[in-house]
Amino acid sequence: MIKDKNIVLGVTGGIAAYKAVEIASRLRKVGAKVHVVMTKAATSFVTELTFREITGNPVTTTMWGEVANWNVEHIALAKLADLVLIAPATANVIAKAANGIADDMLTTMLLATKAPVYFAPAMNTNMLENPVTQENIRKLESLGWHQIEPDSGYLACGVSGAGRLPEPSAIVERIEDHFIDSDSMKGLKVLVTAAGTYEPIDPVRYIGNRSSGKMGYAVAEAARNRGAEVVLVSGPSALKPPAGVRIIKLESACDMRDAVLAEYPDTDIVIKAAAVADYRVRNVAENKIKKKDEELVLVLDKNPDILKELGQLKKPNQVLVGFAAETRNLMEYAQEKLQKKNLDMIVANDVSKPGAGFNTDTNLVKIITRDSDVKELPMMDKKRIAEVIVDMAKEKLQEKCRG
Ligand SMILES: Cc1cc2nc3c(=O)[nH]c(=O)nc-3n(C[C@H](O)[C@H](O)[C@H](O)COP(=O)(O)O)c2cc1C
Repeated sequence: MIKDKNIVLGVTGGIAAYKAVEIASRLRKVGAKVHVVMTKAATSFVTELTFREITGNPVTTTMWGEVANWNVEHIALAKLADLVLIAPATANVIAKAANGIADDMLTTMLLATKAPVYFAPAMNTNMLENPVTQENIRKLESLGWHQIEPDSGYLACGVSGAGRLPEPSAIVERIEDHFIDSDSMKGLKVLVTAAGTYEPIDPVRYIGNRSSGKMGYAVAEAARNRGAEVVLVSGPSALKPPAGVRIIKLESACDMRDAVLAEYPDTDIVIKAAAVADYRVRNVAENKIKKKDEELVLVLDKNPDILKELGQLKKPNQVLVGFAAETRNLMEYAQEKLQKKNLDMIVANDVSKPGAGFNTDTNLVKIITRDSDVKELPMMDKKRIAEVIVDMAKEKLQEKCRG
């Protein structure tokens, strides 16, 4: 985990240097200790004072200044770093680093460190596409440096193209991912369901819901990042499944039930994030229904309750996590569902709140466990929420296995 890790943040003289302030702030908020090294050019864009206040640590701008209240010489910083992040990384600093030039504090420290280095190139499109810059980037990558690829969009120099520094939140997520314990779920099988289901009416129409699959896909990714074998059973979704995850794509609730039950016996943790339709159409028309009558009546039959079945079949060393999406009486419904369906944990989200629920990137959830512990999370990105859910499920499994 990133908490208490020493991150050396190299800030160089690009127009995006101001975004490094937010990067430093976000890194600190997630618990990292941030030590900023600025190039001389960077100090023309942002002040040292800003970084000092944001990080609570001295900021290094030169090799020749007074040593502050701790040992900031380049070797000390190089050793202290658990990770070095250069954001933004100018064409100049990339070129210097690729050629072993060490003529200021940042480049000297880069030569001296054994810590992993992430760099986020940000510059005018022509500078980025220049074969010299491209060759330098490739060279650093071939030496094991991690590039955080620039975004495309409107650049400060007035043109549109590649070269924009990605959003600070995305950069910090990349850095957080680096510190995830990638072996912590090795040997475990995690089954995740995601997205909504489609219940056919005729060959071209269906009853569906607004679930995008973002929460379930994020859960699958978080479990994969921790080394688990992940099976993602997904209803229709526009999302790309995370690499390394086994995906089973289907449409209806009945198909989802069959797929989940087939995978269940040797699964350690099930996280059911799918929004499964409660009802299906009794008589699915063989041909497209024509618009002729004033009224069309569809008779719906109750779908199987997959979660309940899993709860009934659950073995002592299996963990079952459900989701409750409600627009009212959230906690009451969630507690009831947890008990009735024999779940170990339930993730309750009030889908009526702005920024929460279906088709958003963020969510606002409370996680309730069987022993009535309630963990209330602030509005967070679904990827971060997914990590909390997966870590809690893993802890539950460990508790069960300890007996
Ligand atoms: C207003 C302005 C904006 C600049 N923006 C960038 C930039 O976004 N990316 C870049 O690579 N260079 C940019 N430069 C050029 C660098 O500042 C210059 O190459 C400098 O030598 C970089 O020094 P450093 O790599 O030691 O920080 C900019 C220069 C100016 C004057």
